[in-house]
Amino acid sequence: MGGDIVRVGREMRLISRPAQRIPAPGDVELVEVPVPDPGPRQVLVRNLYMSIDPGGLLRMSDLSKLDIPHFEVGEAMWSDAIGEVVESDHPDLRAGDIVWHRLGWRDYAVADGAEFRKVDPDAYPSLSHHLCFGIVAYIGIAVAGVKPGDTVLVASAAGGVGSIAGQIARLRGATTVVGSVGSPEKVEYVTGTLRYDAAFDYHDGMYDQLVALGLNDRLDVYFDSVGGGLLEAAIDVMRPRGRIVMCGQTEQVRSGVPTGPRNMLKVVGKRIGIQAFYTFDHPDLLPKFEAEFTEWVRGGEVVVAETVVDGLENGIDAAVGQLQGRYTGKVILRF
Ligand SMILES: NC(=O)c1ccc[n+]([C@@H]2O[C@H](COP(=O)([O-])OP(=O)(O)OC[C@H]3O[C@@H](n4cnc5c(N)ncnc54)[C@H](OP(=O)(O)O)[C@@H]3O)[C@@H](O)[C@H]2O)c1
Repeated sequence: MGGDIVRVGREMRLISRPAQRIPAPGDVELVEVPVPDPGPRQVLVRNLYMSIDPGGLLRMSDLSKLDIPHFEVGEAMWSDAIGEVVESDHPDLRAGDIVWHRLGWRDYAVADGAEFRKVDPDAYPSLSHHLCFGIVAYIGIAVAGVKPGDTVLVASAAGGVGSIAGQIARLRGATTVVGSVGSPEKVEYVTGTLRYDAAFDYHDGMYDQLVALGLNDRLDVYFDSVGGGLLEAAIDVMRPRGRIVMCGQTEQVRSGVPTGPRNMLKVVGKRIGIQAFYTFDHPDLLPKFEAEFTEWVRGGEVVVAETVVDGLENGIDAAVGQLQGRYTGKVILRF
């Protein structure tokens, strides 16, 4: 007697919403679930890599109070992922295709084919690079209008967004690119491998180090992802009519305490422009990004910094570790 072969996969579910604290591995459970065959126009994808990012922790917890979609308690979480099509009932996709999608945190994804975007498997040296935050950096540098001659400061310069932002600023003609990082090893990485002109460990003071690096009254652009003390120091040293572009506020996410610059009057006095952005506000820039960025990476003009962590079961620990500065570059989970 034969029976249907039932495919089983694992998915990570949020079991309780952490209140006013950073999520921990105890807030989730990894459960085995049967994986259905794809229905009409659906596709079954086996995940290969998934993005680990601070946004996932924000979607788990109540820390951000942002109007971003949160994970539902009792349901599988999601995240950007790269996978391989196993079975397809969709005319545009077939077995073996490599696709980008948003159904990470599970071994297998089954959904309408429209939810999967086919990518060129040879675009980068590694499939995981399709998950890098180059697009966030690219948009931020465009929004800031970085131009030849600019002096640019990048927050979390050894992080997913920051490691690429400074490299793109340079390609746009910035003459001086300075990074803020969390350890002496990261200073070395950012000035060596990533070729930033200078970097400093923000734990050793921010304003004084910016002044020591000659940035006082010289800073044209600050690419902010952390907020708090570094934002305050950047405002202090910024040139009149300087520009701040902002994609995140990691300091507040990490501490759970609202933090803000105490020198906002200087923003007025210096007529500083502050522009925040979400990547999904700029779909028009995606094709330009894909064309330019792949060429830069292939040509060695941009180094994609990443740390790969193995095993879905280690995902939350990796996300918390990333927030605490444990890793260098974009953090990728390999299934
Ligand atoms: N707007 C958007 O569309 C968009 C898209 C993607 C990401 N984001 C946001 O962009 C930010 C960066 O994301 P990412 O994935 O690239 O993260 P990341 O920068 O790789 O990781 C966070 C890093 O921030 C550093 N950090 C933590 N607290 C800090 C503090 N108080 N001051 C300075 N640095 C601190 C830590 O490194 P060290 O302490 O070792 O330096 C940590 O590794 C996040 O806030 C994320 O939510 C926004």
